[in-house]
Amino acid sequence: MQHLALIGFGAIARTFVTTLFVQPETRLNRLSLLVRSGSPDESEEQVRKLCGSHMIDVKVFTDMAEMLASHPDLVVECAGQQAVAEHGAAVLTEGIDLLIASVGVFADQDLFNRLKTIAARKGAQIILPAGAIGGIDALVAARLSGLKAVRYAGRKPPGAWKGTDAENRVDLDALKEEAVFFEGTAREAARIFPKNANVAATLALAGLGMDHTHVRLIADPNTNENTHEYQVKSNAVDYDMRLVGKVSALNPRTSLSTAFSLVRTVLNRSDVIVI
Ligand SMILES: NC(=O)c1ccc[n+]([C@@H]2O[C@H](COP(=O)([O-])OP(=O)(O)OC[C@H]3O[C@@H](n4cnc5c(N)ncnc54)[C@H](O)[C@@H]3O)[C@@H](O)[C@H]2O)c1
Repeated sequence: MQHLALIGFGAIARTFVTTLFVQPETRLNRLSLLVRSGSPDESEEQVRKLCGSHMIDVKVFTDMAEMLASHPDLVVECAGQQAVAEHGAAVLTEGIDLLIASVGVFADQDLFNRLKTIAARKGAQIILPAGAIGGIDALVAARLSGLKAVRYAGRKPPGAWKGTDAENRVDLDALKEEAVFFEGTAREAARIFPKNANVAATLALAGLGMDHTHVRLIADPNTNENTHEYQVKSNAVDYDMRLVGKVSALNPRTSLSTAFSLVRTVLNRSDVIVI
């Protein structure tokens, strides 16, 4: 794999390229970027500097058809759910694999089915990274043994839930102790809290599905961290996992680890050792 394309150049994408292109094992020498027309101009020279190498051929596009005509080997979405809905089909129709950061978009069952059908027909893959969490390898393996339950709890300080439906469920400014303001399925959580849907959706797609993955969302005034906890019960293994995410300096809503998870996924597509 030599030519990588990115949709979006925000917090995740910037950390992703600054990390990926300096890895000694990367064989990439071309980077294409799709940005929104009218968004601040990314000069190709600036992006090349971010990648840490002048040897990389960088091209910035505002039109998806033009970017796809440059024949990338892989397209990585780091833009948002709407970008997956808008561009996913076009990428897969070209037979190009698509790595998706905004996994929460697949709470939309129709879109999920449609993209899966196109990918199958065109021989392309839709790749879903672990993103902000981990342990997805163990969860998928456990699923093959028979899963009994997958329960997830997402805990953030009250301020991190501002601008979401949590404001209609609890007085975020007055909280003195933790409040569970949502309890339900991953599908409901993704529908009501689309900006916080990625982790629950990833667990659901790896495990018991959107309608059988239990989700609790918590506002906790006694923390300033974003904590993801989940519990798996299966016929092969039971486990509890707790991840305390450090927040991206470029976007306080984004867990920093997501960008590194994407780098790992891309490296694994061409490395000799895949882990
Ligand atoms: N899987 C996970 O665990 C996980 C964790 C954190 C974030 N995410 C998701 O990753 C995505 C990106 O996160 P971020 O923190 O980098 O966001 P960001 O807002 O910092 O950056 C997104 C960038 O994409 C651009 N963009 C949006 N729509 C576009 C389009 N149609 N075409 C081209 N560019 C477009 C925006 O202008 C912005 O520059 C979000 O959807 C977020 O929900 C996933």
